[in-house]
Amino acid sequence: MRIYEIKGGKPLKGEVKISGAKNAALPAIAATLLARGVFKLESVPRVRDVFCMLEILKHLGGKYKFEDHTLLVDTTSIRDTVVPYKLASKIRASILFMGALVGAFKEGTVPLPGGCKIGKRPVNFHISGLTKLGAEICLDHGNLVLKARRLKGRELVLDFPSVTATENLMMAAALAEGETLIKGAAREPEVVFLGEMLKRMGAEVKWISEDTICIKGKKNLNPCEIEIIPDRIEAGTFLVLGALHKNNRIFLRNLPIEYLETPLLKLKEIGVKLKKQGEAFLVKRKKELSPVRIITQPYPGFPTDLQPIFAVLLLQAKGISKITETLFENRFLYVYELNRMGAGIELEERSILIKGPVKLVGSPVKATDLRAGAALVLAGLSAENTTQIYEIHLIERGYENLVEKLQTLGADISVKTLNPDES
Ligand code: EPZ
Repeated sequence: MRIYEIKGGKPLKGEVKISGAKNAALPAIAATLLARGVFKLESVPRVRDVFCMLEILKHLGGKYKFEDHTLLVDTTSIRDTVVPYKLASKIRASILFMGALVGAFKEGTVPLPGGCKIGKRPVNFHISGLTKLGAEICLDHGNLVLKARRLKGRELVLDFPSVTATENLMMAAALAEGETLIKGAAREPEVVFLGEMLKRMGAEVKWISEDTICIKGKKNLNPCEIEIIPDRIEAGTFLVLGALHKNNRIFLRNLPIEYLETPLLKLKEIGVKLKKQGEAFLVKRKKELSPVRIITQPYPGFPTDLQPIFAVLLLQAKGISKITETLFENRFLYVYELNRMGAGIELEERSILIKGPVKLVGSPVKATDLRAGAALVLAGLSAENTTQIYEIHLIERGYENLVEKLQTLGADISVKTLNPDES
């Protein structure tokens, strides 16, 4: 078993480059199924979830070459449409093969993704939207089996701007006959990015209002080249890191400022701002931080993925902060871990109360999901003495070279391998 061991309390200095966005790379890999040939994706993050999606693609007959951050995907010999449970059960984004397979092959078998620690995460919007486009979908031994004589474009309405449901419907609509309107669509930058990629592949994709996409399907699409957008959630994680110690001096490069409006406004309220220096941004903070109210919302509201990350910063604010999570029903599990470190956070139904400032004390804790794990890394870096973090594979799902990036900033963090009787 591998764990992180962190000795906290040190000021950090240096520069970090933000990697490509995991949540843009995952739909991009699924979208390669929509055309035959060789795709070139640049700035692809080398994270566990990307490798898992590539393993699924390989299982379906695709080939790939992944050197540095350039990924070549060859879909010429794709011949299978059954996504294997063993691989799909590792990552929820495997659900994105539904839209791509039924779009490209008019059939597909995708394991129904389980819930996860942050919530039930049903897929009813995915199923109802694809069914309206003409797919017959049934549940067979835990698999969603899709069949479609033809896919016909039409008006679709999403009751909630689900990110991956929007992405699934976009991919199927790109190869459906006629025009599809997706109303109530998610408008996360990663969704807009997928629209750009589909356009480069020859699909007609137009945003006709803030939350309505119009897609005119084509008979065939072509492979394309595209660069993955920077990861706004990794960026938000390092923005908070920069503010965690009053003597930190952290510069961030490849920062997608345009995708971070709400988190940056919140940081300003707390007492943290950015100073542009050449190509990079320096994170600067006031001596004393102020408490705030955070309510998570779909984009462009405050992102749920940064909710655990901001909670760690608010432990240093003088006063009471309240965070309400509106997207997922169980996204406060990390609070139990922080409270082991002395955070003293109070849990209500869908909110938490943070009474700062609090000095955290290093302890053994465990990551309960990707962003919870990242929050614990930040907590360990700001705590006195040593923190061990278990279940670090969850963190490696979405953060590329996190340990190396932190070590370049001078953080005392290392990966330890425990033998069985130690763990
Ligand atoms: C995407 O998940 C992201 N994952 C999540 O990031 C992110 O937290 C989430 O969007 C919200 O921004 C990827 O893009 C791979 P949703 P997704 O469908 O698409 C309900 C991370 O850490 N819902 O927008 O699964 C659902 O239960 C991950 O990188 C239905 O009810 O999220 C939830 O309450 C974590 N029925 C809400 O919508 C459905 O059919 C938002 O879910 C679909 C969703």
